Amino acid sequence: MKVSIIGTGYVGLTTGVCLGFLGHKVTCLDSDEAKIETLQSGHTPIYEPWLEDLLALAQPNLCFSTSYAQSIPEADVVFIAVGTPPLASGSPDLTYLLSAAQGIGKHLNGGFTVVVNKSTVPIGSGNWVESILRESYEQHHRHQSGGHFAVASNPEFLREGSALNDSLYPDRVVIGADEPRALELLYTLYRPVLDQTFPAPTFLPRPEGLGAVPLISTQLASAELIKYAANAFLALKISYINEIGRLAERVGADITQVANGIGLDKRIGTRFLQPGIGWGGSCFGKDTAALISTAAEYGLVMPIVQAAREINNCQRAHVIEKLLAELKILKGRTVGLLGLAFKPQTDDLRDAPAVEIARQLTERGAKVRAHDPVALPRARREYADSDITFCEDPVELANGADALVLVTEWPQYRDLPWEDLARDMRHPLVLDGRQFLDRPRLTRAGLQYVGILS
Ligand code: UDX
Repeated sequence: MKVSIIGTGYVGLTTGVCLGFLGHKVTCLDSDEAKIETLQSGHTPIYEPWLEDLLALAQPNLCFSTSYAQSIPEADVVFIAVGTPPLASGSPDLTYLLSAAQGIGKHLNGGFTVVVNKSTVPIGSGNWVESILRESYEQHHRHQSGGHFAVASNPEFLREGSALNDSLYPDRVVIGADEPRALELLYTLYRPVLDQTFPAPTFLPRPEGLGAVPLISTQLASAELIKYAANAFLALKISYINEIGRLAERVGADITQVANGIGLDKRIGTRFLQPGIGWGGSCFGKDTAALISTAAEYGLVMPIVQAAREINNCQRAHVIEKLLAELKILKGRTVGLLGLAFKPQTDDLRDAPAVEIARQLTERGAKVRAHDPVALPRARREYADSDITFCEDPVELANGADALVLVTEWPQYRDLPWEDLARDMRHPLVLDGRQFLDRPRLTRAGLQYVGILS
């Protein structure tokens, strides 16, 4: 099938590369010429494990362009995967979505096309996009019949850092469409994933025992709500374990054991019960805010989702409280942050806890240094004006520091030369923000280990 994808961020690019790998003819569109040039040269503008490798395999089926005119008229399916960043009000900014829909409407030809909302968009956006497409089509195709299209919602559930796995081997595919023809086309598009008939790339082996992938076919609004409800649930699962963690700390219980003890109940499940600094990234904060804002439009409050957000903010502030408890004075202290990305295996800094923690420390007069194995170049670009000193390696970070804070649980941080770091620090304190480091190992190395929740 012929596919166009608008937006080459995490979602659009991953989707495009996977569909190209599965044999579809895909054009990825972006208004950013520099990004398109990078992609044309076989590189990716974002860090995502195996993405460049899969891009190389899919190359014969992929095309990267800035021109709608080149690919939209031909396409059977057009995905909209543009950013919907949060506005101050909590609702998402739909400017890019609007301009994508207008651009598609302008270039649609007479054949039937499914336009798919892949970005996380507010409930009701399917109808809204349809009206914009219609308006734009009529404006640019006066006196012509046609404009046969339908809008569908196909939310993504991919996690940065394992985006390709989540796309090729998903738990489910959700398609919301009010028109049967749209569902049929998307079913054909996803058939290799649903039936798992494609040969797995050597670097992304098929998970053992994975059978057919369930297809959930719904009306538009249900698919839109599934996305928000799933992300809000995951967010509140994390906040729940962090809330229990605060109590565990007071009563002298080990939160990691508690999480394991409750997670092994299959009704609860072990995943997303990792306690710590809390969630960051582009989705959970934005989607919980959007859900609350949509509910408000209907006169509803969402106290559970609101509480999950409040607990998440407290977790970040808890880092400062813990450092204060140990160091007594933060003014003039030097604190080194191990990790900047909002989670390992990505260079994404959107709503990264490290950035907020650095801000709060600086506000209290501390000097902040930071290291990250992958996100440093991006941090240097995006936070060029900040007071953070970026360090090339953890040894430099620790030299003369009063405390180190483990913010992102990159696996390599487990095996740092702790003896050397302890020797070079002014005050050998390590605050483990993810309950991740090997406490006995650090203690043996002469460091004072403090867990975020113990
Ligand atoms: C999320 C959803 O998981 C995905 O389905 C959706 O489509 C996009 O948003 P992502 O933001 O890439 O994916 O990362 P995810 O792995 O979900 O982690 C989000 C945040 O939660 C990270 O900051 C992570 O450190 C934190 N987290 C996760 C915890 O604090 N504890 C956990 O147990 C799990």
